Amino acid sequence: MSANMEALSVPNATRRPETEGGWSSRMAFILAAAGSAIGLGNLWKFPYIAGEYGGGAFVLVYLACVAIIGLPILVAEILLGRRGGGSPVRSFQALAVREGHSPSWRLIGWLGMGGALLILSFYSVVAGWSVAYLGYGLGGHFAADANTASTMADLFAGLIASPAALIACHSVIMGATMVIVSRGIRGGLERAVRWLVPGLFVLLIALVVYAAMSTGQFGRAARFLFRPSFATLTWEGVLVAMGHAFFTLSAGMTVMMAYGSYLKRDVSIGRASVTIAGLDTLVAVLACLAIFPIVFANGLEPGSGQGLIFVTLPIAFSQMAGGEVVAVMFFALLAVAALSSTISILEPVVEHLERRDGWTRPKATLAVGALVWALGLGCALALNVAKGVTLFGMNFFDLLDFVTANIMLPLGGLLIAIYAGRVVSRESLAEELGIGNSPAFRAWRFLLRYVTPTCVALVLINNLF
Ligand code: PHE
Repeated sequence: MSANMEALSVPNATRRPETEGGWSSRMAFILAAAGSAIGLGNLWKFPYIAGEYGGGAFVLVYLACVAIIGLPILVAEILLGRRGGGSPVRSFQALAVREGHSPSWRLIGWLGMGGALLILSFYSVVAGWSVAYLGYGLGGHFAADANTASTMADLFAGLIASPAALIACHSVIMGATMVIVSRGIRGGLERAVRWLVPGLFVLLIALVVYAAMSTGQFGRAARFLFRPSFATLTWEGVLVAMGHAFFTLSAGMTVMMAYGSYLKRDVSIGRASVTIAGLDTLVAVLACLAIFPIVFANGLEPGSGQGLIFVTLPIAFSQMAGGEVVAVMFFALLAVAALSSTISILEPVVEHLERRDGWTRPKATLAVGALVWALGLGCALALNVAKGVTLFGMNFFDLLDFVTANIMLPLGGLLIAIYAGRVVSRESLAEELGIGNSPAFRAWRFLLRYVTPTCVALVLINNLF
């Protein structure tokens, strides 16, 4: 390391002391970050938006967006987290001292924490649907030929209309999330993701094999997904693909900064990020390869919207041999994937209270979890009894979804790109990434400075105006 570089390195005082622990290995970090990225976004949202926006061409644009928007921001977040060494807000403060800039950039951390609380409150309610459907599966609701489209639509409508069922399922998800987070990085998060993420892959691959072997529609599904037909692509589809690249990588909300703050210095951030984005994309594609053959084999509509999993797919499950078992596997998979994401959304806020106010981890988890749980009650009720209570024409559930996904995530991502690309010195970035002034480093910094902010600004402007 040159003397110059040495002078720029962060002194030990701002780093998390080794004794406080961090990820026990590179693998543990990758599993946790991949667990955060892989969630309802991949299994529930991506298939239905891919169906809605016409397949191949949309998938291609989405892949490009992951590469030029999501990945650069993911690298930036992990880098800033590790260099800052604390909760996102504290990391920005530490970096302000190191880099000699205004501490106001810590607002990105506050924005992230606010977004985390809001996202988790409705995400947990949707995750709860998978718990309910797991229960339906175990209770024999998807028994052979027992269901028609209308009974499945009624089942979903019945769930949505029941405050008690929604609140119970939301509570199960929040309870499980809080138990895991309260146990800390090594005791809770690592132990959970060590079986959650591989388990998810095993279940998903089993489903793809099942769908391929039993439907005879695998080729058609693959053509639908991978043969681009640009005639079906709309400008709106391009923007949806860009927005989804954010959501699916958990980028723009400082979640990955919090995970990065526990990362040891000898792990290559670039390589880890490529692995995380690759696994996330793989799951989204596998989910489509599991779902679309079933959709086509049963003459269902790929573009049927949010009901693709909760309404349409169970009809297919009930018609296929062994469908009851497949249904249970599928909804277990969905719950597991959602849980490894909810854990990560709670983490930055808990980390902040723990380090700033000296709270114990269980106390911080309980306080934040209770707040999110209460907000979630509002979301659950907004789907039924409080449906009529609206602001800007949206009920509470839709409002939170809109404000977080369409405003807070892109804004956070934009600010992170500007901050990492233009405020933090080139030397600091190079030192933390450890790849020198290589072509990969220059390409990343170019994307972050020019391409990523332009694309994100487009998404933001499109959503707001
Ligand atoms: N990436 C998660 C998913 O695809 C959702 C998420 C968004 C998690 C933002 C953390 C932060 O489901």
